[in-house]
Amino acid sequence: MNPTNRYYSSYLQLEKVLDAQHPVSFEPGNEPAHDEMLFIIIHQAYELWFRQILFELDYAMKVFSQEHINDNSEDLNLVRHRLSRVIQIMQLLNQQVHILDTMTPLDFLEFRNLLTPSSGFQSKQFRLIEARLGLQLDKRHQQDYYKRTNEGGFTKQDYETISETENDQSLVQLINRWLERMPFFKEEYWRQYTTGAPSSPAGHPFWNDYRHIYQSGLTEREKNKIHDFDYVFFEQPPAGYTPEQLEQLRSNFSPAALRAALFIMLYRDFPVFQTSYQILDALIEIDHLMSNWRHKHLVMVRRMIGMRVGTGNTSGSGYLEGALNKHYVYRDLSGLSTYLIERKKLPKLPAELISSLGFSLR
Ligand code: HEM
Repeated sequence: MNPTNRYYSSYLQLEKVLDAQHPVSFEPGNEPAHDEMLFIIIHQAYELWFRQILFELDYAMKVFSQEHINDNSEDLNLVRHRLSRVIQIMQLLNQQVHILDTMTPLDFLEFRNLLTPSSGFQSKQFRLIEARLGLQLDKRHQQDYYKRTNEGGFTKQDYETISETENDQSLVQLINRWLERMPFFKEEYWRQYTTGAPSSPAGHPFWNDYRHIYQSGLTEREKNKIHDFDYVFFEQPPAGYTPEQLEQLRSNFSPAALRAALFIMLYRDFPVFQTSYQILDALIEIDHLMSNWRHKHLVMVRRMIGMRVGTGNTSGSGYLEGALNKHYVYRDLSGLSTYLIERKKLPKLPAELISSLGFSLR
């Protein structure tokens, strides 16, 4: 064979990949546990897909790190396309849990002690995905469980890499900045727009109208939502809310960014908003799929080890449940549905704005 010809197994480095499954229970002195092979392969398959997810997220972050983001360039469309690939991979990762379900708790017990203190908890790539998406240390469930280098924790080197990524700009911060720079509400576009609504904390003629229409559509039980609206979009803290309640309403995005995001969602039928809308929608979907995975993993863990502590030395399912409830990054975006109004009631956009919608951000 011509030595320059590529050969399937060498191109894919299969010798390395397929020589990386060594069940500990198969080592001399141990009782071979059949299902340990599945356990190793499934984790390795997850890690390979995590690698691809990180690769796609890196691309998205590179695009959003640019000083000028042109909404009409191919960049944003590629981000949209690659985030939808991340979604497909995550759907697969959710399905993969069912393969593990073919291992019974008794099968697992045959080799579980041999793993200690290693755990999926120490997956560096999973932590990098969380950190790049924008999960901040101070918003984690039980930070002390997470950031540690003692038994069951990370190696010093992994700890440092994860910390560096956490301290870098995350995708959520870049998306926030991108949204904040959307030029929709520049005064020059709204000179011809006449508002029928009384003035309000919203200030801007569009938002005065929108706020009024939104408030008129609230039922008696929902009428306090107008205070949430004023906080989420106009930083007016409602009286009597605790910091936790405020955090539930808005945590990772600024009011200006959320005004732009809501506007994009409302007017998504204009072709020029489509890509931006689909990017926001993909981020919401990624958050949901991460949460679905956390839930499926938790249910699988409960079945597998009941209420025993994890090999990674956490309380086990108690810890995982806390993480499931808390580790959302894009909840501010999915929460925008609270503030939608019916399509037929949408204020008509001024011609000046429509004609300038082929904008590029400066
Ligand atoms: C028999 C199967 C499994 C069991 C019993 C199990 C159990 C656990 C437990 C108890 C934890 C909490 C940390 C600890 O104390 O160890 C954990 C965390 C974790 N496991 Fe698994 N796991 C299993 C399979 C998997 C698989 C296949 C993956 C795929 C990579 C995985 C990824 C993770 C991750 C990423 C965490 C950290 C979750 C977080 O902090 O939110 N686990 N696992």
